[in-house]
Amino acid sequence: MKSVVIVGTQWGDEGKGKIVDLLAPRANLIVRFQGGNNAGHTLVVGGEKTILHLVPSGVLHPEARCLIGNGVVVDPEVLTEEMDRLAAKGVDVGPGRIMLAERAHLILPYHQLLDGAREEQESGQKIGTTGRGIGPCYEDKASRVGLRAVDLLDEEELTKKFLALATAKNFLLTQYYGRAEFDARGYLPRLLDLAGRLGPHVVPGSPQIHQARERGDNILFEGAQGCFLDIDHGTYPYVTSSNPVAGSVCSGAGLGPKHLDEVIGIVKAYTTRVGGGPFPTELEDEIGDHLQRIGAEFGSTTGRKRRCGWLDGVVLAEAARLNSLTGLAVTKLDVLTGLDPLRVCTCYDLDGGRISHIPASLGTLARCRPVYEEWPGWTEDIQDARAWDDLPPAARNYLNRISELAGAPLALVSVGPGRESTIELSDPFA
Ligand code: GDP
Ligand code: IMO
Ligand code: MG
Repeated sequence: MKSVVIVGTQWGDEGKGKIVDLLAPRANLIVRFQGGNNAGHTLVVGGEKTILHLVPSGVLHPEARCLIGNGVVVDPEVLTEEMDRLAAKGVDVGPGRIMLAERAHLILPYHQLLDGAREEQESGQKIGTTGRGIGPCYEDKASRVGLRAVDLLDEEELTKKFLALATAKNFLLTQYYGRAEFDARGYLPRLLDLAGRLGPHVVPGSPQIHQARERGDNILFEGAQGCFLDIDHGTYPYVTSSNPVAGSVCSGAGLGPKHLDEVIGIVKAYTTRVGGGPFPTELEDEIGDHLQRIGAEFGSTTGRKRRCGWLDGVVLAEAARLNSLTGLAVTKLDVLTGLDPLRVCTCYDLDGGRISHIPASLGTLARCRPVYEEWPGWTEDIQDARAWDDLPPAARNYLNRISELAGAPLALVSVGPGRESTIELSDPFA
């Protein structure tokens, strides 16, 4: 019995979905523990692409049971739509397979309206959010006024809480943001309909995990976003509103830290970021365009172009410390084929001195210049590599350097979007 955590080590979109799908057959329970439908996790199986926003990425394996944990914020519209889309593909999305923790908070239409209003405010600080209402929903959770999945089970309570909260949100929308009022009464029948659909999926969350442990089951925890979008450890305020770091499994799923056996950090072989905020190794030149094009770097949720840059070893080393990484899965190595030399940032130059951490002050971070080392590239097509020895020596050297910078061993190397395009060096569940 093992519990394995998958986390993003950069700014999201590292390929977490692919790796979770790959490991899922070895686990009995797959659990999301934070974030919401700001996440877009891509699975490519038999050439067919599936993008998941809320349902855990193990769902394509018929044996896997999937739990959306209490730390996730859940838009009932998005979850039902996603389950419908999966059902249309023949995937079993019954209540026994897809479970929703009763303590998970609900994203309702006014959260999305407020997210949009705030982002478009002239005087405001534009974060470049996904516009899915994530921040406003976590605000309600912290303010102790939010609605939770458990409220879907009591029509009267749900109606009362929803209408009361909508009144307060409408005050903000109309009086502060100068927006149109949200028609809460008009939306209520739809909400009750969604409650009827999702009700059978609502379960006590953490007991599912403890029962699985008692049975001796393997559990796979699926992070969303990445370490530097973390509200505490990321490039605040250009972050999301949850904690994508591995420690958040404990609060967001409901289990103690001693029960987490392995933490696998997903590392894109270069760096991308979508939305605003600092990005020291960003390339605003033809190499950046090349990575964007060859890597097909468009956001899986919003379709926005992702900003691209070299691998940042400062980010990687800090992610290794913040998450206690026990292993790495390096993805999209194939995208680097043909680039020579490759550059890796090993520290920052700050006003003539060297630093190897990410300063909290955005002003200070803006003065940081990446210090690079160069590594020879390779030209061989590596998409069919399935073993370490299939990789050219230059690719192996580059991977070894990534492992050295993180101080964690390589577990997996991904050389294409498909499930099969993977080199497995060790099994985190072994
Ligand atoms: P996630 O949010 O971390 O799950 O990552 P996304 O799914 O948002 O973005 C990763 C993108 O890269 C998706 O389009 C994947 O299909 C794709 N991908 C994953 N691994 C590889 C890889 O090794 N090579 C290539 N070329 N594409 C990959
Ligand atoms: P996955 O799980 C990449 C970014 C947004 C924005 C910031 C805040 O697919 O890796 P939010 O809507 O969360 O309030 O937006 O966070 N962001 C992501 N970027 N991948 C994600 O998820 C992201 N989820 C949020 O672009 O900059
Ligand atoms: Mg993504």
